[in-house]
Amino acid sequence: MKQKSFHTLVTGASMGIGKAIAEDCASRGENLVLVARSQERLAGLATELAGRYGVDARVCSEDLGAQGGPGRVFAFCEQEKLVVDRLVNCAGFSFTGNFVHIPQEELLQMAMVNMVSLADMTRLFLPGMLGRGRGAVVNIGSLAAFQGVPGMGLYSATKSFVVTLTEALAVELKGSGVRVFAVCPGFIDNQQFYTRAGHDRTRILVPVSGPEVVVRALRRGFASGTIVQMPTLFDRLMVFTQRLLPRRPVVMLAGFFAGAGENNLHKR
Ligand SMILES: NC(=O)c1ccc[n+]([C@@H]2O[C@H](COP(=O)([O-])OP(=O)(O)OC[C@H]3O[C@@H](n4cnc5c(N)ncnc54)[C@H](OP(=O)(O)O)[C@@H]3O)[C@@H](O)[C@H]2O)c1
Repeated sequence: MKQKSFHTLVTGASMGIGKAIAEDCASRGENLVLVARSQERLAGLATELAGRYGVDARVCSEDLGAQGGPGRVFAFCEQEKLVVDRLVNCAGFSFTGNFVHIPQEELLQMAMVNMVSLADMTRLFLPGMLGRGRGAVVNIGSLAAFQGVPGMGLYSATKSFVVTLTEALAVELKGSGVRVFAVCPGFIDNQQFYTRAGHDRTRILVPVSGPEVVVRALRRGFASGTIVQMPTLFDRLMVFTQRLLPRRPVVMLAGFFAGAGENNLHKR
């Protein structure tokens, strides 16, 4: 595979979906900037991918929940003179339990990581892509974006933000050579994600897929003009059928299928 001339920056690359995306990018010859907090995991992954695929893999360990995090990531890329033509905003986390019980610190962190840093990373890296007349921003949303999910209310609201911003940007950037699209997975098999959220995975009543479906949806997104990519047929059916139903049952069913109520909590 011929090495590409640009870097793809993946946030949340230390594990789970972001790691799978980074591996796929490297296998296609894309150079990488790997961003997350876990310096050691990122360094191990960078060494492995550089060795296996001959790409340039850089590590930028940063807390995207901290004030100025995206700015420091951008400064790192500028200092290293990296041409970031693809930005994959994947870092994010969930919290399961009734909204009234969310600690304020958790609420602020989720708003920072899932929404503010995603928007700020996009704002920082877009001008360079627009100047070059090429590039893409991929935002990892969720099926939770399409309706409130009881027991995951704040998380679903942050993902609605992701989809709404992506839709508007995609149209704003039409004709610029820069694509923006969202990938919205249903539940993905990743115990780390559920443990962090306090979500008992065994209570989920819908199919749980592997991270490879997200990677494939991301590739379909690059190949098509679709603004929102849903990884599986089941995901597409869920979103389509809810348009035919009144809103309250849609929300109740989403909570039921997610198994995210207070009685379904898992020890964090
Ligand atoms: N798993 C699912 O069922 C599912 C379904 C739909 C959508 N999603 C979305 O997919 C994305 C990835 O989820 P995942 O399943 O791969 O979860 P994961 O395995 O827990 O990975 C989350 C990633 O985000 C990074 N991250 C979290 N907080 C951060 C912070 N403050 N600063 C920098 N990086 C941070 C983590 O790295 P560090 O801990 O090293 O910082 C990690 O790399 C998220 O946006 C999630 O909402 C997941």
